[in-house]
Amino acid sequence: MSETSPKLRAELDGIPTYKPGKPAAAGGPVAYKLSSNENPYPPLPGVMETAIAAAHGFNRYPDMACTGLMNELADRFGVPLSHLAAGTGSVGVAQSLLQSTSGPGDEVIFAWRSFEAYPIITQISGAKAVRVPLTSGDVHDLDAMAEAVTDRTRLIFVCNPNNPTGTVVRRAELERFLDRVPSDVLVVLDEAYCEFVRDVDVPNGIEIYRDRPNVAVLRTFSKAYGLAGLRVGFAVAHEPVAAALRKTAVPFGVSQLAQDAAVASLQAEDELMGRVGSLVSERGRVYEGLVKQGWTVPETQANFVWLRLGERTVDFAAVCEKAGVVVRPFAGEGVRVTIGEDEANDLFLHTAEAFRKEL
Ligand SMILES: Cc1ncc(COP(=O)(O)O)c(C=O)c1O
Repeated sequence: MSETSPKLRAELDGIPTYKPGKPAAAGGPVAYKLSSNENPYPPLPGVMETAIAAAHGFNRYPDMACTGLMNELADRFGVPLSHLAAGTGSVGVAQSLLQSTSGPGDEVIFAWRSFEAYPIITQISGAKAVRVPLTSGDVHDLDAMAEAVTDRTRLIFVCNPNNPTGTVVRRAELERFLDRVPSDVLVVLDEAYCEFVRDVDVPNGIEIYRDRPNVAVLRTFSKAYGLAGLRVGFAVAHEPVAAALRKTAVPFGVSQLAQDAAVASLQAEDELMGRVGSLVSERGRVYEGLVKQGWTVPETQANFVWLRLGERTVDFAAVCEKAGVVVRPFAGEGVRVTIGEDEANDLFLHTAEAFRKEL
C-alpha cells in the first residue's frame, strides 16, 4: 500500500476552523448561551407542529426547488421567482456566491472584523481575502473598501448590521459606495440581522438591489425567525446571479422540515416580530446599562452588543462563564454578547458591572 496521502488543495492549508459559540455548561446552577446570536425563544407552537408534520416524510427527498417557500418570499418582497435562491443557511448561500464568482487569482473584499465565516469561505474558494479595517468607531470604512477594489475583485461583502459590532451603514453612504463599485463586481449585502434594525436610515437591501444588477441580498431564518437549527437562508439577486446560486447549491440541501417551518414562520410573523420587539427593547436596556456602568459600547442595531476589551477579553469571558453566561470572545479584540432571556441579560449586566469595578 502506498504511503502517500490523497492530494488536497493547497488553498485549504491554514484555514481557520469556524469557532461556534460555546454551549452553556451543563450541570451548573444557571447557564445561558449568549455566544451565537441565536433567538432565545423556543419555536412557536404552529411552527413546531408544521415541522413535526414534515418529519413524517423523512424517507423522501425534499422539494429541491423549495417551491412553497420561494412563492411566499416572491409575494412578500415583490420579486420574481427567478431572483430567489435558497440554501443551507445564509452561510451556505454565501459559499455558493463565492463558488459562482471567485477562484484562485481573484480577490474578495470585506470589512474586518466582521462575520468570521467570510475569510474561511473565501479561502476555500481559492480567492484572496482583502480585509479592510473597520473605522475607529467600529463601522465599515466604505471609502477604504471602494479604494481596495482592483481589476481582480470579484465580490464584496457588506455586513449590515455588522457581526460582531452591531454597527450599521446608512442609505446615503451605501448608495455612494455602490456608485463607486464597478458593475462587474458583485456586492453582497448580508442582512442576517435586518429584522432587529430600528434606525430608519438603514436601507432595506431588497429596495437597493432592484435597480442594481450587481447587488445580492442575503437573508436568514436563523436569527429573528428562530430557526437556526434547521439551516435555511436565501438570496435575492438578479437573474444571472440567482441562477448561478441555484446551480452551485448543494442538491436537496434545504430539508422539507426547514422549508415548511420557514413558511410557517413567515405566516406567524406578527407573533415572531412581537418577540423581536421584546429583544430590541432588551437590547436598549442592556446597552444603556453598560453605558451607565462606564463602558464604551458602539450603538448596535442587531441582537447583540460588542465590548472592545482588548487584552482583557479572555479574562472577561471567563468571568462571565463562571457567573453562568457564555459570551463570545475574540481574543485580543473584544466580546460579543447576544441579547437573551431577560434573566440572562440581568446576569450579564451584573457580571459586567462587577468586572468593571475591579478594573
Ligand atoms: C452576518 C451573518 N451572516 C450570516 C450568518 C449565517 O447565518 P445562517 O447560516 O445560520 O443563515 C450569520 C450567523 O451568525 C451572520 O452573523
